[in-house]
Amino acid sequence: MEFNVMPGGTICGEVRVPGDKSISHRSIMLGALAQGQTRITGFLEGEDALATVAAFRAMGVQIDGPSGGEVTVHGVGMRGLVAPPNALDLGNSGTSVRLLAGLLAGQDFDVELTGDESLRARPMGRVIEPLTRMGADIRGAGGDHLPLFIRGSQDLQGIHYDLPMASAQVKSCALLAGLYACGRTSVTEPAPTRDHTERMLRGFGYEVSSGNGKVGINGGGSLTATDIDVPADISSAAFFLVAASIAPGSDLILTHVGINPTRTGVLNILNLMGADISQHNVGEVGGEPVADIHVRYAPLKGIDIPLDQVPLAIDELPVLFIAAACAQGRTVLRGARELRVKESDRIAAMAEGLTTLGIDNEVLEDGIIIEGGILRGGLIHTFHDHRIAMAFAIAALRAKEEIQILDCDHVATSFPDFDAMARGVGLQISARTD
Ligand code: S3P
Repeated sequence: MEFNVMPGGTICGEVRVPGDKSISHRSIMLGALAQGQTRITGFLEGEDALATVAAFRAMGVQIDGPSGGEVTVHGVGMRGLVAPPNALDLGNSGTSVRLLAGLLAGQDFDVELTGDESLRARPMGRVIEPLTRMGADIRGAGGDHLPLFIRGSQDLQGIHYDLPMASAQVKSCALLAGLYACGRTSVTEPAPTRDHTERMLRGFGYEVSSGNGKVGINGGGSLTATDIDVPADISSAAFFLVAASIAPGSDLILTHVGINPTRTGVLNILNLMGADISQHNVGEVGGEPVADIHVRYAPLKGIDIPLDQVPLAIDELPVLFIAAACAQGRTVLRGARELRVKESDRIAAMAEGLTTLGIDNEVLEDGIIIEGGILRGGLIHTFHDHRIAMAFAIAALRAKEEIQILDCDHVATSFPDFDAMARGVGLQISARTD
């Protein structure tokens, strides 16, 4: 699929973007291990979350739906999973594979985890290391890559692990293995990362301690099924937050968006750039804060992105680069080396596209410097990365000519029907399937 986006337009209306990807994955995982039925609403029916659903079905869990965002997971209890008949293929989903590696390290069956070309290129040593220290028997192809082979029936021991990088996936992997470990498992993070695993474990009745950058659990407990209302994904909302901020005349409301403070870097960064964003109807669903977000056009200025905001905006940085390209002056990002090991090398992919559109930029090893300017049109390569595709679609609002974006199929991993929703609020986008 490719997108063709005509230049200009304003972004107006009220929309609810699809459900949070991180929370959707975790709702299936914990629901499967719980006792009882977990009813989920607002579930993300994107390919990544569906890969997690398929994996648990293959391990004997009955899952009804998703249908209209509703899913019922018939929990099998902590020891109720069965060996899947084949390798589990998690497609493009890093979250599925890294969290599952932890959860499966403590089972009594062997399992092989694999994924698509992009996922097979991503580093897995970051989960192999803590799991091996806990006593898991886990091996990756060539050491650091998928497929991962996990041998069951190992006695896991609780450990303390100092995370070498700010990664919620690695933190969650260790905690999920810790459910099956003897004694206490704890993790210290170099910077706060999304805490959905901790919040949801508590929601399922599991005791989790947290404070001063350290999270810990005791192994051997159980989970009790609960209902989960998945908020709209702030990572998907981010495309529209930037869209309305850069397109003159825009006025948009995004409803029921998750505003967990470990995810709101995009709001903080846009506010520092001068955006006009306000929150309304602030509330809480299932331990996760939500709000309606009102965003109106405002002229943006370039900033030095504060280092502490980087992990809190890690998935939103590609579209923030588009905000920077439309801002007056220079924006500097550092401390974002993790962007190089996402679904693509997002620093390189964004730099290439920005250069195509005539925006001066300098690539740094751990970030980028972007000079705001006038955007031309052009042909963009996404490197099969959903967020690169959507970010450049938004750029067309301020481009002088059409932007054509190749290889957009992966948009369906996190935001099915992005093009239809974007068209509905004023982006002049058409999708073509060859
Ligand atoms: C995620 C954590 C982040 C993020 C990913 C989802 C999660 O990855 O980029 O899209 O659900 O835990 P890292 O923790 O590796 O930074």
